[in-house]
Amino acid sequence: MPELSNGGLKILVVGGGGREHAIAWRLLQSPRVQSVFVAPGNGGTAREPRLINVPIDGSSPEGISALVALVEAEGIALTVVGPEGPLAAGIVDAFRSRGLRIFGPTAAAAQLESSKDFAKAFMTRHGIPTAAYGTFTDAAAAHAYVDREGAPIVIKADGLAAGKGVVVAQTLAEAHAAIDEMLVGNRLGGAGSRVVIESFLAGEEASFIVLADGEHVLALAPSQDHKRLRDGDQGPNTGGMGAYSPAPVVTPAVHERALREIILPAIRGMAADGIPYTGFLYAGLMIDPEGQVKTLEFNCRLGDPETQPIMARLQSDLVELLEAGIDGRLDQVSAQWNPQVALGVVLAAAGYPESPRKGDPIHGLPLASNTLAPGVIAFHAGTQSDQDQVLTSGGRVLCVTALGDSVREARERVYAAIEHLDFDGLQMRRDIGYRAL
Ligand code: AMP
Ligand code: GLY
Repeated sequence: MPELSNGGLKILVVGGGGREHAIAWRLLQSPRVQSVFVAPGNGGTAREPRLINVPIDGSSPEGISALVALVEAEGIALTVVGPEGPLAAGIVDAFRSRGLRIFGPTAAAAQLESSKDFAKAFMTRHGIPTAAYGTFTDAAAAHAYVDREGAPIVIKADGLAAGKGVVVAQTLAEAHAAIDEMLVGNRLGGAGSRVVIESFLAGEEASFIVLADGEHVLALAPSQDHKRLRDGDQGPNTGGMGAYSPAPVVTPAVHERALREIILPAIRGMAADGIPYTGFLYAGLMIDPEGQVKTLEFNCRLGDPETQPIMARLQSDLVELLEAGIDGRLDQVSAQWNPQVALGVVLAAAGYPESPRKGDPIHGLPLASNTLAPGVIAFHAGTQSDQDQVLTSGGRVLCVTALGDSVREARERVYAAIEHLDFDGLQMRRDIGYRAL
């Protein structure tokens, strides 16, 4: 273990997925960082020197209080939040009220993700391009709307549903069934007791993520995710089965449009509405063949697995960027990117996404590090260290990520490294990056 530099910064990353492992891994490369606490972290962050797992879940009020206490006791200089749960639960509000430095949106600003109805009304009010929609709590009215609009059509639970709240219905029968499941059958609980129904948009998707400080933004490299479970974009929607950056579909013209038509109006709109937006802002873009860009959704955080390739490419000091975000100086910094392609493939557990199985031993991981080969990293997600073995403990288990001079090369490196990994019931896609080939 390298000697700790005295006086280096301590940082806290909230979350325990592949996104948080990648953020923590990148933070450790800052010469200013001494150690990174990860709450709760996972089996991969547990193995990394200078990363310290703390078993606290920041998505409840008690968890947030415990994190405040940890930061005060340890003298942690700044906190960055990965998932939406702690943000929606008000972690940023709680930290700020104690004068603690944290990068993320307040609970009020996080409504851009935590309520689809809030986001749609916001976009409509501020002229941000998105699909036409209606919001319903009454099943009969929702059924009538779908009959009037026809299929394909998209049914979305209003609240947070961990990627399971969206049904892209190809037929009216599917649309009616989705409405009944959410509004009548209560399949998603409170999150689905209100639904947004919106028109189907055709085109290619991309993830456009920026840092925002309430006024200015700094765009991260664009990326593309693969949401469906199986090759060829078949099977159920998941949190994401793989991603790569850059995304060729985000041409310089599309990039400029996304900033001008979506991101900047969103930042100005939130400020005008009295809820300044700080933190990562993720716009899910739908890009049509003419290069028109519409907003599928906003997330108030970095994407997972998009963050894994994004962090693999980021060359700037992430601490500097986060500090500029906290201090309202994002207009004074820029981000440097490795020109190579980064690509990550998710290894998911048996039963994912419906009911992932836990406790399967993972074979083939190197003992002491998360590097599988030069430039190939296993970012952990649903894993748990158990003495000298690592067990699966969640739906998405690992995201193996590599750099290469082309999509093809990065992808060959990833799949070659995965050859040496195995666990019972492993599911993965074999075609990550196919749109860019
Ligand atoms: P969301 O969580 O809103 O991004 O939706 C999850 C996924 O559903 C998106 O990544 C798209 O693949 C798909 N989707 C959402 N809204 C639409 C839409 N209006 N038209 C077509 N596909 C959509
Ligand atoms: N990968 C999609 C998301 O993080 O929402």
